[in-house]
Amino acid sequence: MPRHSGRFPTLAPAMGVHHPQNRDVSRRLISLTAVVGARPNFVKMAPILEEAGRRPAFHCRLIHTGQHYSPQMSETFFDELGIAAPDVNFEIGSGSHTVQAAGVMLKLETELNERRPGVVLVVGDVNSTMAAALVASKLGIPVAHVEAGLRSFDRRMPEETNRLVTDVLSDYLFASEPSGVTNLLAEGVPKERIFLVGNVMIDTLMKYRDKAAKTGVLDRLGLESRKYAVATLHRPSNVDGMDQLASLVNMLTELSRHLPVVFPVHPRTRERMEIARLTECGLILTEPLGYLEFLRLTSEARLVLTDSGGIQEETTILQVPCLTMRENTERPITIEQGTNRLVGTDPKDILQAALDTLDAPPRFLAAPEFWDGKASCRILDVLERSLAGKESATAEFLQLPVCKQLQSA
Ligand code: UD1
Repeated sequence: MPRHSGRFPTLAPAMGVHHPQNRDVSRRLISLTAVVGARPNFVKMAPILEEAGRRPAFHCRLIHTGQHYSPQMSETFFDELGIAAPDVNFEIGSGSHTVQAAGVMLKLETELNERRPGVVLVVGDVNSTMAAALVASKLGIPVAHVEAGLRSFDRRMPEETNRLVTDVLSDYLFASEPSGVTNLLAEGVPKERIFLVGNVMIDTLMKYRDKAAKTGVLDRLGLESRKYAVATLHRPSNVDGMDQLASLVNMLTELSRHLPVVFPVHPRTRERMEIARLTECGLILTEPLGYLEFLRLTSEARLVLTDSGGIQEETTILQVPCLTMRENTERPITIEQGTNRLVGTDPKDILQAALDTLDAPPRFLAAPEFWDGKASCRILDVLERSLAGKESATAEFLQLPVCKQLQSA
């Protein structure tokens, strides 16, 4: 059974996010249903909803599938990012991927049949993303996918299946980096559907970076700027097997002889660490942190070690060295231009890479194109132009060379 607390923040008008009066207004031209389910979805959807709330053409409805439900995995993000309470929460909770996807599908079908929105917008690659795209597509409702085209080429990752299914069903494919465009074209997606718009997660980062600086998380954890490392682990391939998890935690303990290591622990990981008695490990273990505290923590870190997708992107913009504890990444631009490095999952290799990085941090080349805080504007420009049939006042990006190049490729 889902353990959703049932409490969501009330609307925070001061934050300027989509106001209720922006919702049920029949003269609005585009009825957009946004679907979120898991922690990274909230960070990506927040700036899109905020921008849509500013545009008279959009009437938004927000569905939370309830895939993530613990207050610190969900509600905190709504609070901190000023996202208004969802119109509906399906409360599907935890379960096998089939149980989660089927739960979303059954409830979303009823919702979409009743409302018949003009477009369903999904973000990222979690189970809720894929399930929502499948239902909307079957009902003939256009699907817009934000973060389209990313590929690890590793079908063992559940997210890779979710990305492939979502993209094949989507009508608007919004790519965050050029590899996304290349992958989609190689898979035969018509170029007219693909838009390189940049990274909505970076829209949120840029908006909240100053606010994050005021959180006091470093003092709370007894840390000094640039004198600690941050680690996160939650991929099933790293944490579900007890031997692999133990060897990675031991490696982090070894690293903590050189500098303090803060480890905000995902619930999936916490459960396994407790079973394997790994919690007395000499690391600074915390509950999952909220968005602002985590942003501050990574901003000031000397080194980040992670198996997350989004953190590879955030550290790129923060110019903080990142070691990705995976064999592959679907975000190659973070390595080509940013401070990210793939170090695999062998603890010896990771430790060596960490020590090397402390001695000689990687050089940051340049921020990826369109990771500039305006990705949400570009997305809504495209949707407004296409669905409301009118030229958007802020659509200058459609004239940019990269878009022209795409349209004529
Ligand atoms: C999901 C996404 C993953 C994303 C991650 C971000 C899929 C396939 N995976 O993985 O891509 O990177 O979210 O966190 O969609 N749990 C709680 N409270 C919660 C949510 C989960 O305690 O609010 C615990 C439960 O024990 C649950 C486990 O975490 O069984 C895993 O949750 P789940 O949503 O299945 O996958 P994540 O590992 O969070």
